[in-house]
Amino acid sequence: AEGASFPKQCVGPRYRPEKQKPTATVSTEVPFENVHTLPQTPQLIALLTMIRDKKTERADFIFYSNRIIRLLVEEGLNHLPVVEHPITTPVGRSYAGVMFQGKICGVSIMRAGEAMEQGLRDCCRSVRIGKILIQRDEETCQPKLFYDKLPEDIASRWVLLLDPMFATGGSAIMAVEVLISRGVPENRILFLNVIASPQGIEKFSKKFPQLRVVTAFIDQGLDEKNYIIPGLGDFGDRFYTM
Ligand code: PRP
Ligand code: URA
Repeated sequence: AEGASFPKQCVGPRYRPEKQKPTATVSTEVPFENVHTLPQTPQLIALLTMIRDKKTERADFIFYSNRIIRLLVEEGLNHLPVVEHPITTPVGRSYAGVMFQGKICGVSIMRAGEAMEQGLRDCCRSVRIGKILIQRDEETCQPKLFYDKLPEDIASRWVLLLDPMFATGGSAIMAVEVLISRGVPENRILFLNVIASPQGIEKFSKKFPQLRVVTAFIDQGLDEKNYIIPGLGDFGDRFYTM
């Protein structure tokens, strides 16, 4: 059967014996410390199954991708620095809390990355969002930079870079080069991504070892057209037009 040669893992609640659990395709392990894959919970695998299915229609594709994007944003925020913030509760007791330190902004790689903006806004009210328009040439798969609009003070912010698909890595590398040229240090960029290829991850991690990547799943590879496999097809088309 299709995909049968790739490793699978058991998925399901802890109270079920391993032998009674269904199996599902496993995310590829990579040896890079800067790469953080979301916990491979039954919920995440079920959401990924919905958006990968070619039979899933646009309204459902949007709904389920938004749920994955929300998980990515919540995990991405865990990588931002916090400082101690003790408070007193209404019943007069103290609580040793923390609060975020530093300013952030989102930067989406248009068009597909814009699909991740709402998830970021849902977690960070009135967050500044910049945009970089990069399009992959359909023949050569080389990225081309058309436009950028970034907050003036971006060099003093943590940047959450948004793009759901990370294939050859060309588009994300070009976007990071734009950010670095505006003075953003590599170690203050977090790249939030739904599906990555091992090739993209390797190229990117070797070039930017201090830049953290938070992804939901690392797939098996790329096809002859540099589409991610098994992947989900063209994210932008499925989210905006199909
Ligand atoms: C897709 C995707 C990434 C890029 C990934 O965008 O959203 O930006 O391709 O491929 P890469 O890692 O090989 O560069 P595309 O250029 O197709 O534009 P779109 O967002 O308008 O669909
Ligand atoms: N862009 C997509 O939308 N999907 C891929 O598989 C590769 C690039």
